Formats: sequence, structure tokens, C-alpha cells
Amino acid sequence: MTPEMKNIKTGLAELFPFNWELLRHAGAEPVPFHLKKWWFCLGGTVLYLFIVQVITGIALTFYYVPSPDQAYASVAAITNEIRFGWFFRSLHKWSANFMIIALFLHLLRVFFTGAYRQPRQLNWLVGMMLLGVTLTFGFTGYSLVYEQLSFWGATVACNLADAVPLIGPTIGDLLRGGSEIGENTLTRFYILHIGVLPMVVFVLISLHILLIRLQGVTEVPLEGEELPESERHFRFWPEHATTEMLIGVLMMYVLTIIALIFPAGLGAPADPTTTPAHIKPEWFFYFNFRLLKLTSLQVSVVLTMVMGGVLFFWPFIEGWLMRKLRMPPAVSVIIGVIAFLGFLILTVWEGLAA
Ligand code: HEM
Repeated sequence: MTPEMKNIKTGLAELFPFNWELLRHAGAEPVPFHLKKWWFCLGGTVLYLFIVQVITGIALTFYYVPSPDQAYASVAAITNEIRFGWFFRSLHKWSANFMIIALFLHLLRVFFTGAYRQPRQLNWLVGMMLLGVTLTFGFTGYSLVYEQLSFWGATVACNLADAVPLIGPTIGDLLRGGSEIGENTLTRFYILHIGVLPMVVFVLISLHILLIRLQGVTEVPLEGEELPESERHFRFWPEHATTEMLIGVLMMYVLTIIALIFPAGLGAPADPTTTPAHIKPEWFFYFNFRLLKLTSLQVSVVLTMVMGGVLFFWPFIEGWLMRKLRMPPAVSVIIGVIAFLGFLILTVWEGLAA
């Protein structure tokens, strides 16, 4: 190192007195061998896609106007007039969908490898909150476009909120900012989408990652892959971090190609006086929408709450069933497969319906 470089290094160390050894030590955390498989470390992909959402979302806020008479026109301007507006909007839309798919896959891998069990129950709860917040992101974002389908989708969602036992009407009014969807609703959805939810996600992801760091990632012995002790782990930095970055580059390629081939479109503007013949929410709510069509408003809401509650508290429910009824762990797998197939069937059914 030249004397000038040394001076710069000492100067920087004085300006920012941080112990870099500490960071190097933290980065060298050993991670288990099975994280070399993508499907085991999908949480990193979710995080990457969330960062894409934040960057493209900030760009969109420069031109989006959250008022009922200008929202649709501002989205149309982003799509058709503003330079690269269509590209940022398409990336935002596709990355949101990819994030939700990666999130579901991450949840499935955590569930089917039993990684939610002692001592990681708390991190499962944090993950569940992240799932709830991510779905709310999707719902509020779709509503901001203020086209016919998103307007009526929001109307159905607020009606569902109204049907929650006891506190439903209060939640509905809180969401809408009154008894009708309008100016207040859009402001509320906008504040949720660009302010409250990002802050909540930031706190929850930090907690999620802190817990992963403190507890380590679950060791999953894979059949036929018995390795000597020295090869069962590799370093987070630079090995795992490089893999995650390569996955990021690959995702950006795929997102760009899809955005070019299928750019985000725009339907008819919202018309509160005319209900469209076919209302459709985003695909990740097809399950609830089909349930609503098969039962009634109240029954579908209660069913969703019960199923959501069981999923949320599953590590504790399973623990209780294992202790009291001596339920073998394989039963959890069967319950998981049935629940997932049920979700898949209702989603595809609604997707194929006109
Ligand atoms: C924004 C959403 C989320 C992000 C960014 C995220 C990120 C991560 C990351 C980076 C890991 C390390 C290992 C891996 O990549 O699989 C992880 C592990 C974990 N995640 Fe998530 N996650 C999210 C949502 C969820 C959800 C919805 C659940 C389930 C309800 C969940 C439960 C867990 C658990 C229990 C672990 C520990 C797994 C183990 O020890 O093997 N996470 N998460």
C-alpha cells in the first residue's frame, strides 16, 4: 500500500471509527451445505425482489397522482408518455408477482422441511406477518391503478372486511375512510402502499434476518449426500452472497424479458356507477374469491380467518397435537399437502373461470 493510500485509510477510519473485523467475522458465518440448492434459499430471492419493488416503486411515485380524478390518467401517462415509464411500471408489476410466487415457495420449503419447529416458532410468526403485509402490498398497489377491475376488486375486498365478525364494519370504514370508496380510500391505500407497509416490512425483515443469524439455518440431512464434517458448511461471504447476487442478475434478465414481451397494460377507467360483468381480483386472491362464490360473504370470511389462524399458529398447534395426541410428524406433511392442493385447486378453478 502506498503512503497516500495509507493516509486515506487512516483518515477514513478516523471519520468513521468502525471495527471492520467485526463485519468480516459476521460475514464469515458458516451456512449449511444444502443452501447451495436454490429452493432452500428462496428467502434471499424474496428479499432481492422486494428491493426491486422499492427502487421501481420510488420511480413511479414521481409521476403517480393519488386522487380519484387523476390516478388513472397519471398511470396512463406513465405507461404511454413518460420516458421508460412503461418499463418501470412493468418491472414493478412483474417483480411483485414473482415476489409473491417466491414467497409462497419459501413458505412451502420452510413448512415441508419442518424448519418452523423449536426453536424457530417465533421466526415462523414473523414470516407469517411478512406474508400478510406482502399480500396487502399487492392489494393496495392494484387498487391504486383505479381501473374498472381494480376499483371493483377493492369494493369486494372492503365488503369482505365488513363481514369480519364484530369488528368488520370498523375495519371496512377505516379502509375506505367512510362508507363509500373514493378520495379518502385512495389516499389511505397510497399512504399504506408507499409509507406504512414498507416501514413495517423493513422492521419485520430485519427481525427475520436477525433471528436467522442468531439461530442459524436448520440443518437438513439429505439422503445420499452424507459429507465429511469439513464439507458440510461453506461461508456466507463471499460464497453464498455471490450465489445470491448471481440469482439477482438472472432474475433481472427474466424480469426485463417478460416486461418487454408482456408490458403492464391498462383496462377501462373506474366507473363507480357500473359494475363490470366479471370482477376479478389479483391471482393470489383467487382462492378467497372462489371460496366466496362457493359459500357466502360471511362463511368465506370466517373460513379464511380460521384457516389463516391455523397456518399462523401452526408450530404451536402442531406442538400441542404432538404432545397431547402423540401425532407423528408425517401427519403434518399430509395436512400440508392437502392444504396446498386445496389452495391450488381453488386458485386454478377461479383462474379458468370466465
Ligand atoms: C418478505 C418476506 C420474507 C423474506 C425476505 C424472507 C427471508 C428469509 C431468508 C433470507 C431466510 C434464510 C434461508 C432461506 O433463504 O430460506 C429465511 C428463513 C426462514 N424463513 Fe423467511 N422470509 C420471508 C418470509 C417468510 C415466510 C412467509 C415464512 C413462513 C411463514 C418464513 C419463515 C422462515 C423460517 C422459519 C426460516 C428459517 C428456516 C430455516 O432455519 O431453515 N419466511 N427467510
